[in-house]
Amino acid sequence: MTGLALEIRGLDLMLDPLGRRLHVVRSLDLELRRGEVLGLIGESGSGKTMTGLSLLRLEPEGARLTAEIMRAGEADLLQSEEAELRALRGRAVGMIFQDPVGAFNPAKRIAWHARQVLVRRGIADWRPAAERLLAEVDIADTARVLGAYPHQLSGGMLQRTLIALVLAANPAVVVADEPTTNLDNIVEQQILRLFRRLRQTEDAAFLFITHDMTVAASLCDRIAVMYAGEVVEIGTTAQLFEDPLHPYTAALIATARALEGEAERLPELPGEPPSIAEPRTGCAFASRCARRLEGCTLAPVPMIPLEGGRRVRCLLHG
Ligand SMILES: Nc1ncnc2c1ncn2[C@@H]1O[C@H](COP(=O)(O)OP(=O)(O)O)[C@@H](O)[C@H]1O
Ligand SMILES: [Mg+2]
Repeated sequence: MTGLALEIRGLDLMLDPLGRRLHVVRSLDLELRRGEVLGLIGESGSGKTMTGLSLLRLEPEGARLTAEIMRAGEADLLQSEEAELRALRGRAVGMIFQDPVGAFNPAKRIAWHARQVLVRRGIADWRPAAERLLAEVDIADTARVLGAYPHQLSGGMLQRTLIALVLAANPAVVVADEPTTNLDNIVEQQILRLFRRLRQTEDAAFLFITHDMTVAASLCDRIAVMYAGEVVEIGTTAQLFEDPLHPYTAALIATARALEGEAERLPELPGEPPSIAEPRTGCAFASRCARRLEGCTLAPVPMIPLEGGRRVRCLLHG
């Protein structure tokens, strides 16, 4: 037993749509302690959702998932038995999706969904428990919400409800995949406040996926930066903001500062991430990197461990 809520070592995920062999997650290591919030940040297509789905073992059909270790709490996520994986879903790892609608059965009221979760946990007197759960995510009119069908609730209310139901199963790890991206700004701020409060009261560890550095900074203890399928840097939020080591992290933070009005101009990052269908010969960021060295394109760059649990995939720090 490691005492970690989440431990991932050497996760690789390969998709094979029409034989193109897309390597969407590469040699990924992550660890989360109980009560910790880790941000997983990166631009669209960098592999964040595929990482989250891998933790629920909901990778697309035909995908090849390999890892040395993948554990949430006491549960081994590398099982191959579908029945065992089904039993782990929700209990070991819960997931809050960007679009909560898809997480609900549209033909059933919220009360039905709450009952499913609570009875599964052995709580026979589920109704008062359901009301308490909804109250914990700041829903006042719990009777109305329990009696409603999913489509009768606003996006913000439905997301709160989903958060309550995911937490009700008491998972070791909660993956939240861009949970505020579809919400308007006021509701987004309310939900972020809710996460900030929940992290103090819940035992769970959170993996908070976002493309928004400002959102990550407002919520996360540590941040992992993902680029083209790889984590390129991981450290505390303060470390990353005060002294970003990877040039890509530095670019993301400069952009966030510019968008917050703390810098005059929006920095430009020329070029695009490399194809995930091609083999890699060196650093994924090399073609866009102003600080590229000769060695950067010769061989894949390993994750370099630094002091205080910080790691960076960059030869400038090797
Ligand atoms: N079902 C799928 N089949 C093929 N490729 C996919 C599938 N889902 C995602 N991808 C590809 O995998 C890569 C990572 O996607 P994703 O994890 O959704 O990125 P993110 O969440 O960071 O935006 C992208 O290149 C995406 O196009
Ligand atoms: Mg995504």
